[in-house]
Amino acid sequence: MDAYEAILTRRSIRKYKKQEISEDFLEKILHVACNAPSAGNQQPWHFVILDDRKILNVIQTFHPSAKMLKDADKAILVCGDLNLEKFKGYWMIDCAAATENILLAAHCLGLGACWLGLYPREGRVAGMKKLLKLPTNIIPFAIVSLGYPAEVKQKEDRYDTSRIHRNRW
Ligand SMILES: Cc1cc2nc3c(=O)[nH]c(=O)nc-3n(C[C@H](O)[C@H](O)[C@H](O)COP(=O)(O)O)c2cc1C
Repeated sequence: MDAYEAILTRRSIRKYKKQEISEDFLEKILHVACNAPSAGNQQPWHFVILDDRKILNVIQTFHPSAKMLKDADKAILVCGDLNLEKFKGYWMIDCAAATENILLAAHCLGLGACWLGLYPREGRVAGMKKLLKLPTNIIPFAIVSLGYPAEVKQKEDRYDTSRIHRNRW
């Protein structure tokens, strides 16, 4: 699958088979995450691999739409590190780029993934900080659930010419 095809066919997958994701695949996904663009190449991110069932279950108690974690083999928590920010205010945009890279890498490897928003919802951020005892400079941005897909979703073409403008509004 080329990159163009991957972008157009990626969908949020929330149902997973009971099948383990290899460390090799996990590393490939994280490799791609670390190669996302960032403001001034500041790379203000950290990634936490989550594969402890107890942790994955607790997240569902403070995140209202995280039920898919019950069956996800693994998840990746994307965090912003305020101490690594050289260009103030951009950390979350950089983390969003890394998160999208994770979704696309998973799709390319035949895995299903879903972005679970944390930041800027205060309750979810606080819940995650408490659960993992994150240092004050580390802000949990998003979780990506990962697993072998147990659902098939058709691609959806959202190309909308009414959102495209040229030279003026
Ligand atoms: C910032 C952000 C936060 C999201 N948070 C959640 C979430 O908490 N739970 C969930 O099931 N999906 C979440 N999603 C996935 C969206 O629901 C999904 O991307 C959207 O419906 C489009 O569907 P698609 O991913 O299949 O193209 C989130 C997506 C983004 C970009």
